[in-house]
Amino acid sequence: MIRIAAVGDIHYDRRSSGKLTKYMDGLEQTADLLLLAGDLTQVGSVEEMSVLADDLAECPVPVITVFGNHDYHSNIQEKLSEMLTRVGVTVLEGTAVSLDVQGQSVGVMGLKGFGGGFIGACGSDFGEQEMKNFIRFTKSQADALRNGLISLNTDYKIALTHYSPCEDTLLGEKKEIYPFLGSYLLAEAIDEGGADIAFHGHAHHGVEKGCTPGGVPVRNVAMPVIRHAFNIYTLNKEGAIHQERSFAAVTS
Ligand SMILES: [Fe+2]
Ligand SMILES: [Fe+2]
Repeated sequence: MIRIAAVGDIHYDRRSSGKLTKYMDGLEQTADLLLLAGDLTQVGSVEEMSVLADDLAECPVPVITVFGNHDYHSNIQEKLSEMLTRVGVTVLEGTAVSLDVQGQSVGVMGLKGFGGGFIGACGSDFGEQEMKNFIRFTKSQADALRNGLISLNTDYKIALTHYSPCEDTLLGEKKEIYPFLGSYLLAEAIDEGGADIAFHGHAHHGVEKGCTPGGVPVRNVAMPVIRHAFNIYTLNKEGAIHQERSFAAVTS
């Protein structure tokens, strides 16, 4: 079995020091790795990421993250990525990583993803160049996700995005903004790539549990949704969810 701690949308600002570290003590007894589903900061500034990097340096288990739309706001994502890499965090953007967990191999394919909407209410690769650029970018993200998952030859395969691959986990959000919260193309990639489970954030007003059309469990781990420092997902040898529970209610 493997135990995955996951959270997204922690939205660190300059005053967030300790926001996560106070819950990291002993995390290695509960989880084998920590996944962060993007929106690590408020506006993607060096100051904010510096506070987070200091906190993540304390994490007793490997940390793997993707960036969210907020982390791109200042247009210095490469610099922010380097800051996290320096403290041992793996930052994925269209890339995959494999790690050994108690003799089992775990592969995580991660990227931000993008919007576009869901079947019956989605944008299409047609018309103005701006619209084509939008949907083509989402398609390129989905293609990278699919190919990355297929390339993984690991016991477990995990998809990690910021944007949602399915509508299920958006329940509670305004329907009008669904196209800005995710895309069905990501779910198709997850199904075709053979992921065991998919994590995302971004939908602060959504719900935790969903599923792709192909039956892959999807979990929205945005902190405002899970209301804990982390949720812990235990996968059995077949990659199915054996147990899921919350860890450390966030008190401030
Ligand atoms: Fe967010
Ligand atoms: Fe977001």
